[in-house]
Amino acid sequence: MNGSGQQWNASFYDSKIGFVSRLGRGVIDWLAPAAGERILDLGCGTGDLAHEIASLGAECKGIDSSRDMIEQARSKYPMLSFDTADGHTFRLQEKFDAVFSNAALHWMKRPEQVIESVGLALRQGGRFVAEFGGSGNVGRIRHAIAEVLGALGIDAEERNPWYFPTIGEYSFLLEQQGFEVRSMELFDRPTELPDGELGMEHWLRTFAGMFFSGLTEDEKQEAYRQCCALLRAELFNGQYWTADYRRLRFAAVLK
Ligand code: BEZ
Repeated sequence: MNGSGQQWNASFYDSKIGFVSRLGRGVIDWLAPAAGERILDLGCGTGDLAHEIASLGAECKGIDSSRDMIEQARSKYPMLSFDTADGHTFRLQEKFDAVFSNAALHWMKRPEQVIESVGLALRQGGRFVAEFGGSGNVGRIRHAIAEVLGALGIDAEERNPWYFPTIGEYSFLLEQQGFEVRSMELFDRPTELPDGELGMEHWLRTFAGMFFSGLTEDEKQEAYRQCCALLRAELFNGQYWTADYRRLRFAAVLK
């Protein structure tokens, strides 16, 4: 999905973290795809939102850096076009009316390159509409990871795979590359995790594994246990965990 080195298992993604696509539906309203429009879904995962956009009458193509995700997307939605490509450097022959992205841009740590690639994929007047983690996203979880790794002499920031900009930072980058920002919002979205008591450990394993690379399996298990202990009072309600997500959502037009 990203080019960050994060490895994805597509079947696991579909069965366990389908909430990522479900929560992305709101941003399709901002995209407002019209019948016949050509839309590119950047970081399409296993294709659910590309399929939803296509079902509204648009022609939607998906790209993702994970071959596993793209294979799964192709087998789920054989009528749609999906390709493996890095969001930083992709180049496509055709021009699109809009580029859409949900929960993918925070894995792309060179946003200038991503925005350049998006600009080259759009026709003049084309839209870039996306949602991803914004400034402060998973702040409590990051703090716990930093504390646990710090005690092991590891600087978590050096391993940070995520990019969570402020409105000011991301607007500036878009404007620098010829986009007009029509709307941008930063908002909290506390997100209930699946798997009850085990939800946070599963989230850490799935999304934050690169922070813990180099540790043995036993050391990882202990590190996850410590993170969960630090977070429990704030993020576990006795039944399920809530991740402290914060989203940046925007719509911009290429001038
Ligand atoms: C997010 O969707 O905000 C997110 C997902 C995985 C890791 C970090 C953030």
